[in-house]
Amino acid sequence: MSSALSSSPTRNEFEQQPLIKLDSNENPFGPSPRALEAIENAVGMSNLYPDDDCRPLRLKLAAHHGLPPEQVLVTAGSTAMLALLCQTLLGPGLNAVTSERSFIVYSMAVHATGAQLIEAPMRDDTCDLGAILNAIDANTRIVFLANPNNPTGTMVTAEAVEWFIAQVPAHLVVVLDEAYYEFASHFAMLRRVNYSNSLDYVARGASVVVLRTFSKAHGLAGLRVGYGLGPSELLGYCSRMRNTYSVPSVAQAAAIEALEDTGYTAQVAESNALQARFLAGQLEAMGYRVAPTSANFLYCDTGEDAAGFAGRLREEGVAVRPLGAWGAPSCIRVTIGTREQNEIFARALRRVGVAHDRRGPAAMRFGG
Ligand SMILES: Cc1ncc(COP(=O)(O)O)c(C=O)c1O
Repeated sequence: MSSALSSSPTRNEFEQQPLIKLDSNENPFGPSPRALEAIENAVGMSNLYPDDDCRPLRLKLAAHHGLPPEQVLVTAGSTAMLALLCQTLLGPGLNAVTSERSFIVYSMAVHATGAQLIEAPMRDDTCDLGAILNAIDANTRIVFLANPNNPTGTMVTAEAVEWFIAQVPAHLVVVLDEAYYEFASHFAMLRRVNYSNSLDYVARGASVVVLRTFSKAHGLAGLRVGYGLGPSELLGYCSRMRNTYSVPSVAQAAAIEALEDTGYTAQVAESNALQARFLAGQLEAMGYRVAPTSANFLYCDTGEDAAGFAGRLREEGVAVRPLGAWGAPSCIRVTIGTREQNEIFARALRRVGVAHDRRGPAAMRFGG
């Protein structure tokens, strides 16, 4: 994986204090207690290969989403599903279309097949569905839509997606990447907007693949388990390309319990929404503008070189993601942490932000 994705070490080199890791959109609360118990119970069986078909988890997901099991494919994180879709549908001379400043793995997975990735311009830090449609050409086979988008955190409504799906030529596959589904649903409920009808498209056999993951609200990023929901024939082709035994048994066991522990994910999403307000408030109080998030991170324009800014924060013991590799050299992405982590971030920000304040209001404009 590229350096843009690599995780930070967990200690800061300067003071040997634990580094507050707000750079990879992980769940700061860890796995749910039920998932942890399942991990403890399963780990003793690690001498055995896992169920290659992930059958118990797959059946559970099918029932959970009201779909037949053939429309569910479990993979080693949803990024593995992305790679399988690209290997199945793309090759040299073909292309996929997505938004600029979107999930960096789209570009890696597409380029690995020899195909091209076309990135449509955004509007107001939000995926512009009209621009994505305009970018589709005769060689396009996949459209990726991260909703909410990473790294900007913004979402498009269910109505906008409905319109979009109706316009996309039927022979293309639309990938609706809903890695932050639980957070986005909660924000949408608070804001009284409609977030997603994606399962309706899958249920009616549309050429749509919905991606979900256990890495975010469920707190299982280190175990690598995600899944795709889509047309059974396409998932069948993808399944044949999967690496054998790619999803560990501990991960499968943990995911089954995590899915059941809806109380836990609800608490995680609720805390996230509260803390989003706190964190955005801290940044805005210092003159930074923040894009409205529907995910578990904030996109913020520092008004200066973000790599330097992130480096100074790191010296204060907080890791955030500078977004130069996404074509946003003055922006950072900050994961929404626990209240305690966010307070440490806010204190670090006040120390680091002194230089920023001195540069005056002109430098503080969003997008500057
Ligand atoms: C939009 C998007 N999709 C997918 C993923 C990856 O998820 P996984 O850990 O399931 O591979 C991420 C993780 O950051 C993401 O931001």
